[in-house]
Amino acid sequence: MPSSSSKGSSRAFSFPKAVDLSGEFRKYIGKQVSYATHGIHRYPAKFIPQVPRFCIESHSDVGDDVLDPFMGSGTTLLESFILGRNSYGIDIHPLARLIAKVKTTPLDPDMLSAMAGELLANIRGERDDNDSRIPEIPNREHWFRPTVLSELATIKKNVWVLRKSDYKDFFKICFSSIIRKVSNSDDDSLIPEVTSFQRKLDEQGKTSYDALSRFENAVKKKIIDAADLWKLSQEVSEKYNGLPKVNIIGNDARDIALEDGSMDLAVTSPPYASAVHYVSVHKLEMYWLDLIASTKELDSRVVGTARAYMAEYKSWEPNPSIPELKRVIDDLVVRDKKSAYIVYKYFEDMRKNFCEVHRVLSRKGKYCVVVGENTFRKVRIPTYRLLSSIAKRSGFEMIGANVFDVINRHLDIPRWNDSRIERDYILVFKKKRKAIEESL
Ligand SMILES: C[S@@+](CC[C@H](N)C(=O)[O-])C[C@H]1O[C@@H](n2cnc3c(N)ncnc32)[C@H](O)[C@@H]1O
Repeated sequence: MPSSSSKGSSRAFSFPKAVDLSGEFRKYIGKQVSYATHGIHRYPAKFIPQVPRFCIESHSDVGDDVLDPFMGSGTTLLESFILGRNSYGIDIHPLARLIAKVKTTPLDPDMLSAMAGELLANIRGERDDNDSRIPEIPNREHWFRPTVLSELATIKKNVWVLRKSDYKDFFKICFSSIIRKVSNSDDDSLIPEVTSFQRKLDEQGKTSYDALSRFENAVKKKIIDAADLWKLSQEVSEKYNGLPKVNIIGNDARDIALEDGSMDLAVTSPPYASAVHYVSVHKLEMYWLDLIASTKELDSRVVGTARAYMAEYKSWEPNPSIPELKRVIDDLVVRDKKSAYIVYKYFEDMRKNFCEVHRVLSRKGKYCVVVGENTFRKVRIPTYRLLSSIAKRSGFEMIGANVFDVINRHLDIPRWNDSRIERDYILVFKKKRKAIEESL
């Protein structure tokens, strides 16, 4: 493979020339990236379905087993399903697991419509005071008006009594999708935030806090998405003589509950060091869905967490064996040791993930990782290059790389030079040798 080295780092690591796919991916917009249930719920840093589709079609066959260890909202799982592959997903985020489940579970449209009709009528006819259902949310009155709290509690009560669990989860997702919209938070902020812009909209009467109507609209809209998935699933079943299996198997990408050599392909877009605060983004929804009691414990288990305690890094002596990582860490240590430790910990966690994926892949298995670069404390972190070095150490060989421009992303990863055009890579690794299991 021809190799071109990146500015300033040629001695440390040579990176293969990446084939540019911007022209291919740029053309997909609107419904083309949110067809069927792909747009069933917001989720930060989703990749467009065409990216995992490209990986799955290029590196697996019908009937194969595909893993996404950082599955987020389940984009890889739905694409695998459509392409006749069985899929396995892992995510630390309980809301991600619920979204992924609903996204990939076909529901009978007649049954769904009948249940929706009854549910909406029950909610409109509800006379009880359901305020006891309002969850304990820190600063609750800051986030929600009293009337909104009562209406959400009424919706919750009526959804929670439903019996058929797959259908109930669908309505939970409808419920979750309106929480931010009826909260006092600015809907455009990634992390919940009551902004002066939002207050101004309120003064001008431009925001609707009618939770019941919002819920009705969400149900009506998502029923259409669910019907699309149902139709698609019938086509899939006909084409592949049965439905592929979708399995949500766990919550930690560093400890994968699968047999050695059992997967044919893994495809993922991993988190970045201290970038998107996945737990904070959807904390209001998770409180309402009873998915968390506090954000702290979950936050500490997220790969890329910005949380680090003095006891962890006080006696830590930074000396990573990968020269390019050492340079990044040294630059950060000068600023502060905690930041350096956060970044080191991220790459160490990613190393554990590479070793685990290496273990569960078959002899010819491949791992496609979709990742770019970012900055932290004004230090450039060439995440894609560092992960390539770590993959090599973990027993992989890089057999290809693609690159593409990312535009219109609803996320908050600070990129190098604050460039508006971000570049992501699809790194393709193949199992080659035994992994070195030592820390970095
Ligand atoms: C870039 S997002 C993936 C988005 C996904 N590709 C999609 O289209 O929705 C990265 C995901 O990694 C998850 N994550 C962070 N730490 C994790 C861990 N220890 N184990 C598994 N997943 C983790 C986050 O919750 C987040 O959903």
